[in-house]
This record gives sequence, structure tokens and C-alpha cells, in this order.
Amino acid sequence: MKWLGPTWLAVDLSAIAANLSTIRSLTKAKVCPVLKADAYGHGIAVVSLFLEQQQVPYIAVSDIYEAAELRQAGVNIPVLVLTPILPEQASSAAAHDLTITVSDPKVITALAEQALTHRRTIKIHLKVNTGMNRVGIPPAHALEFARQIAKHKYLELEGVYTHFAEANSDLSFTKTQLNRLLAVKEELEHSGFTQLIWHAANSSALFTFPESHLDLVRVGTALFGQSLAKLPPGIALQNTWNLYTRIIQVHQVAKGEPVGYNQAYIAKRDSLIGVIPIGYSDGLGLAPENHSLRQYLRKTLIHLVHNPLQVSVDGISCPIVGKIAMGMCCIDLTDHPRAPDLYGAVVNIKARRTAVNRRIPKIYTINNKLVLIHWQERYWQPMSRDGLVYVKEISLRAAVEILKRRNLYGS
Ligand SMILES: Cc1ncc(COP(=O)(O)O)c(C=O)c1O
Repeated sequence: MKWLGPTWLAVDLSAIAANLSTIRSLTKAKVCPVLKADAYGHGIAVVSLFLEQQQVPYIAVSDIYEAAELRQAGVNIPVLVLTPILPEQASSAAAHDLTITVSDPKVITALAEQALTHRRTIKIHLKVNTGMNRVGIPPAHALEFARQIAKHKYLELEGVYTHFAEANSDLSFTKTQLNRLLAVKEELEHSGFTQLIWHAANSSALFTFPESHLDLVRVGTALFGQSLAKLPPGIALQNTWNLYTRIIQVHQVAKGEPVGYNQAYIAKRDSLIGVIPIGYSDGLGLAPENHSLRQYLRKTLIHLVHNPLQVSVDGISCPIVGKIAMGMCCIDLTDHPRAPDLYGAVVNIKARRTAVNRRIPKIYTINNKLVLIHWQERYWQPMSRDGLVYVKEISLRAAVEILKRRNLYGS
């Protein structure tokens, strides 16, 4: 991909499909991919269209803006907005045919008005706070809310759900949360609300707590190849995301000389320093979340002694040295076996996926073949002629057709 430019992000659609099939193998419930934060940094338009082709029944997003982006991309399946909206946003909910999470009576009134105006039924999922104490109504208020929604002709209470605070590590608390939701279920069913979709499980609960799967599992992290919870035996997830850049300068720095801003790093030996054109404005410096307290303490300890950020240069781990600047940082190449011949070498970088700048071009691969490039709302199809690779700009619609034609499991 060297022709693409110095920095790009590679999304492996086959790996997403493989993870989806692993998730499906673990549950009888329907799978609702959670595509918050630009699909966890994978690009919401392409990923949602791709998942629609994989026959997912629902997609969940953070907010109305993300949901609108899906609709603009042409996603037709139901879209659940997870973060409760303000009454002022009710008209967008109606305009984009969205399913709205409700945890406030004012929103019910606003949605009812907009549904009437648009002559369109708005679907609602009621969020119950079962212990996380972030958003949601108290379990004791659920029936009253359900009745209030049912009074409105153009509102449909379609689902009820909760969110687990710690399904990766505290199963006893998670069980308490589930039991609170099940008590609400019993109460609502007893009062005639018998056709609702009930959901609670996120990725961790998918792995740790099968009883919580209910009708639907809302899965983000696992779909994109990561897990905070221990995976069940025999289950593996595939990596779906890689951030790359290339070395734009290689130079010698003598022992005792500083590198970068504030002289924050002083070369401890005669060093070979590489420069990569990526910095904190691209999301660098925000390493992925650690998995356990032990790992966190270890990281903090290492941090005190030594800058822990490492990148991989042609498969060899090299440390970042000095301060990460807005758009550049330096790496120590002294011990790299190919040093000093590393100008232009490809560097693989760990970063928090959701923090990586959306302006970085994304390339999508299926079975290791490049199928699509997405950069700043534009799409390109790679073509090859006479042994040369070139790209042709195409519409998103045409891009979807390409995804459809690709045989995921073939060559
Ligand atoms: C309400 C809700 N459900 C499900 C998820 C998905 O969680 P995970 O990425 O752990 O699968 C999220 C993620 O933030 C969420 O907020």
C-alpha cells in the first residue's frame, strides 16, 4: 500500500465477518452490532453497509448524528440510538426512521408530537437502570413509562434494555443487574406487554454470561476483535484494524543530544532516529485500554522508568522517543536489524482506535485483497491494468455493489 501516502488505516472486512460468525456461534439471540464512534474507528458507512449485507437485524449507534450518517449511506435496517436524546432532537428521529432509547417522559411527549407530524410510527426502547447508574429509568418506573408510551398512537414500545457495568469481571453484580431487568420483564409481561425485545448483554456478557443474552446481544468490542473478558476455550477473535505510517526521515543523533520538544528525551548512546508523520492530532499517544489492574500497574511502572510506547517497523518493535508532537514523532531505530536502511519503511502503530483521526484514509480488504478506499467522504476502487495498480473514484452506492460482489470466503 506504499503508493497510498504516508499514513493509512487498514480495515479487514473478512475479519469482521469471521468475528460476527464466531459471535453468532455463541448465542441463540440476534446480534446487534454496536457501531459507536465511527464503528470503533473502522468507518461507520462502509462497516454498516457491509454488516447489513451480513444480514444483521439491527445496528446500534451512539447518537442521532451517527444514525443519520447510516441512513445517508443507505442503510435500511433498523437503527437503535443508544444515548438518550433531548426533546429537540425528536424530529430527526422521525425524519430518519430511528429507534430511540427513552429514559425521560419529556422525550416521549416530543417523539409523540413528531411521529404525528411525520405520520410515521417511532419505535422506542426503554432503558432501565439496573445498577450502572449512568442512564436509564428506575426499574420501579418501567411499567408507568410503558403505559405512557402505549397511550400514543404513533409510538411503539418495541424493546426494553439495560447495560452492564462490569460483565467482564464481576459476574455477581452482573447477575444482580440481570435479575432486576428480569423482574421488570415479568411485571410488564404480566401487564400485557408480551411482544417486546429484551436485551442486556454487551461483548463481555456474550462471553461470560449466556443467561443474559435474552433476545438480542449488543456487541461492539468483540466484533472488532477485542475482548475485556476472558474468551471461552476454543474461541478466538481476529484483528480487524491496523494503523500504518512510513518513515519520512532517518538520521544519526549523537549520545547526549536531545530529541524532539522540550528535550524530553536525551540519547543515551549514539542513536539512529526515524521520524514518522503521525502525532497526537491523529490519536497517537492514546494507547488501547489495559485489561486488568495488574496490567495497568505494570504499565504505570514502566512509564515511570521508560517511555513504553512501541511501534513495529517491518515487524520489529522499536520505541517512540521524546514527546509525541501534533503531527510527528521520533522512533529509535538503533537496534533494528535493517538499520540504517529504513527510509520509507512501513510502521505499524498501536493506538486507541476510537481516538484516531477520521481524516486518515481507510483501506478495506477482503481476503487480504484491497477492495475499497475511503477518504474524506470519497470512495475509490483499486484497479489493475498492465501490471499497474491505480484507483478510480466511485460513488458509495458503487462501493456497496463491490462489497456485495466480493466472495467473503472465496479467493
Ligand atoms: C448501551 C451499550 N450497549 C452495548 C455496547 C457495546 O459494548 P461492547 O463494545 O463492550 O460490546 C455499548 C458500548 O459502549 C453500550 O454503550
